[in-house]
Amino acid sequence: NITCAKTDAMLASPDHTISLIAPAKINLALHVTGRREDGYHLLDSLVVFARFGDRLSVRKAAADSFTLSGPYGTGLPVDDTNLVVRARDALRRQYGEQATPVAIHLEKHLPVASGIGGGSSDAAAALRALTALWGIDVSPVKLAALGLPLGADVPMCLHGETLIARGIGEDIERIAAFPRLPLVLVNNGVTVSTPQVFSVLARRDNPPLPRLPSLTCLDDICTYLGQTENHLFAATETLAPSINDSMQALRDTNPLMARMSGSGGTCFAIYPDDETAETAATRLRQSQPSWFVVATSTTVEGN
Ligand code: C5P
Repeated sequence: NITCAKTDAMLASPDHTISLIAPAKINLALHVTGRREDGYHLLDSLVVFARFGDRLSVRKAAADSFTLSGPYGTGLPVDDTNLVVRARDALRRQYGEQATPVAIHLEKHLPVASGIGGGSSDAAAALRALTALWGIDVSPVKLAALGLPLGADVPMCLHGETLIARGIGEDIERIAAFPRLPLVLVNNGVTVSTPQVFSVLARRDNPPLPRLPSLTCLDDICTYLGQTENHLFAATETLAPSINDSMQALRDTNPLMARMSGSGGTCFAIYPDDETAETAATRLRQSQPSWFVVATSTTVEGN
């Protein structure tokens, strides 16, 4: 497991390699409130980030390269269909002179296409690491605008701390003082196509999230989340009924709550403390050795 004390801690080594975690993004609640003319859906989503994720490193080199490793690195493209390469090229188009050749390495610890923002989080990490490596002075707003065409979740992943995302995901409201949530993430290997999930939604005009009160304890959060949903779940369930295996396995560990993140197939559960989350993860790993199961917790602002 990789953990980090602080998601935005960029570690520069003596050979000037910059490494950072591309954390898992978790939609605690996801309401679909409308659809734009171009087909993209309007969302209202409460999003947190985990202390667990992929690890990206960049260093100056004689020529560009992009390499992959890690449990989910095999089979992924390393050409310009990979969001990391597209992030590098988007920055280079804007800041050509500063953008000298770079070796990028990505250690994939997050399952691919699984509703926890792996690709978008990797792209956001690449944008942040490369702007640091190349000494590019760019405002967060401009960097988010540059990242949005790479994926609707890239701006929220650039923010990297608890937030509410509206619009298609780019309109971000920072949520300060949100408690740390002990979590387990589970993926049973089911693959779901996000565009397909959006295309079979029964309703696209749901109400927005209820106003978020000041939440200080886990019970308050779970009470609030009880008034919310993931509106993508029913569509994912139609396309991939085995999502229910993950949900049921999580529910069997008696969490405070369990839900699917994004368009799935990763599901999460919230526990009262780290020890209970670890115990649940151990049980799940024993009963389902082939599944992705991680006990982690969310990052809290400034820590
Ligand atoms: O932006 P991204 O490539 O992550 O989105 C993948 C697909 O998911 C889009 O092409 C679109 O079909 C769907 N989508 C959507 N509304 C959003 C985000 C994604 O309809 N807010």
